[in-house]
Amino acid sequence: MNGKQAAGYRAVEWVQPGMTVGLGTGSTAYWAIQRIGERVKEGLEIKAIATSKASEKLAKELNIPLFEAADIPHIDLTIDGADEVNPQMALIKGGGGALLREKMVALKSDKLIVVADASKDVEVLGNFKLPIEVVPFACEWTFENLRKQYDVPMEFRYRDGSIYVTDNGNYIVDASFGRIEDPEKLAVQLKSMTGIVDHGLFVGIAETVVLGNEDGTVTVRT
Ligand code: A5P
Repeated sequence: MNGKQAAGYRAVEWVQPGMTVGLGTGSTAYWAIQRIGERVKEGLEIKAIATSKASEKLAKELNIPLFEAADIPHIDLTIDGADEVNPQMALIKGGGGALLREKMVALKSDKLIVVADASKDVEVLGNFKLPIEVVPFACEWTFENLRKQYDVPMEFRYRDGSIYVTDNGNYIVDASFGRIEDPEKLAVQLKSMTGIVDHGLFVGIAETVVLGNEDGTVTVRT
């Protein structure tokens, strides 16, 4: 069992019968969803909501009962991955492009458990490019505004030669901040810019981090 699988499996121990569970996105959340699928097969009764079309598809394949947001007044627990985690449990997310739904589901949840392999554990956020979701209309203006405000390398995300479109029909700008000394300040600044829908900084949202080590052991941070 590798670190991602170990972290994903361990986090599912928090899932209790009757809970409403948010299903994260990415290659680590994948293992949590697999484990939830196994437990559902064994008789666990839960409600679930997915943070992306990809996770929705996976959950359907595993017969995990999925619900629309409108039918979910409250989420007990969400298990999701991260691209970077700092000692204060601030995160960079959105490497897989699902940051907006991930943040909406996380904020609706009583508890967000982050699952990641130990390589995601960093002292200072920012080595990983920060994903910023922007509306397609006048996205060049938004990009220019970002460039004026922050003198760091940034580019629109492309996949297979075409601009990457999120599940919400938006684009992503990936920005190389290098070192984000004050994630909270940057998070607030970015949210205040017109044209930006949201960004991958999650500050003060995660409550528990499960880091999976290469030898299959896990370290739990609360
Ligand atoms: C998806 O948009 C992301 O926020 C993922 O949760 C994050 O990129 C971690 O993905 P991995 O577990 O695949 O590294």
